[in-house]
Amino acid sequence: MLKAICFKADLENKDSEYYTLVADLLESDIVRQMENFTHHGRTTCFQHCLNVSYYNYKLCKLFNLNQRAGARAGLLHDLFLYDWHTYKPSEGERLHGFTHARKSLENAQKYFYVSALESDIIEKHMFPLNLCSLPRYRETLVIVFTDKLCGSMEVLSNLFFKLSETVQTKLLRRKAKAE
Ligand SMILES: [Fe+2]
Ligand SMILES: [Fe+2]
Repeated sequence: MLKAICFKADLENKDSEYYTLVADLLESDIVRQMENFTHHGRTTCFQHCLNVSYYNYKLCKLFNLNQRAGARAGLLHDLFLYDWHTYKPSEGERLHGFTHARKSLENAQKYFYVSALESDIIEKHMFPLNLCSLPRYRETLVIVFTDKLCGSMEVLSNLFFKLSETVQTKLLRRKAKAE
């Protein structure tokens, strides 16, 4: 079952509005390749994109924006398809943070139809890191927010998981000593 962070909804529910907007992407091998790469802590690139996609969908719906573009571009916004932790930029290439949005857009356009609005959302999701590429649409401002929100929640949930693991180990050791 696919879920977004802090939401209970089953995102693979084929009758849901969200699923109908992104079904072809969720069923695509290219998008599923992101399951092979970790992004933030224990969160894979695929799960991160799913989180951002669903938060985009919810916020775009709330503010009467293009929820289809928000959901689809969210799922494709980090489609750079490599492990950024071990990636070594080639001679003269800038760091991952500055270049991956463009690479994700190129991959998205290679494998799927991507509208002008979706392209803007993907290419400029790292704003204000890439100050030269200013968001043109309100949907792009939504992802600027949701990407940072989801990234922060993923890092925090990883920290919480590690902390609870440490506490559990210490408690078990203490219990073993007492017996
Ligand atoms: Fe990104
Ligand atoms: Fe992201």
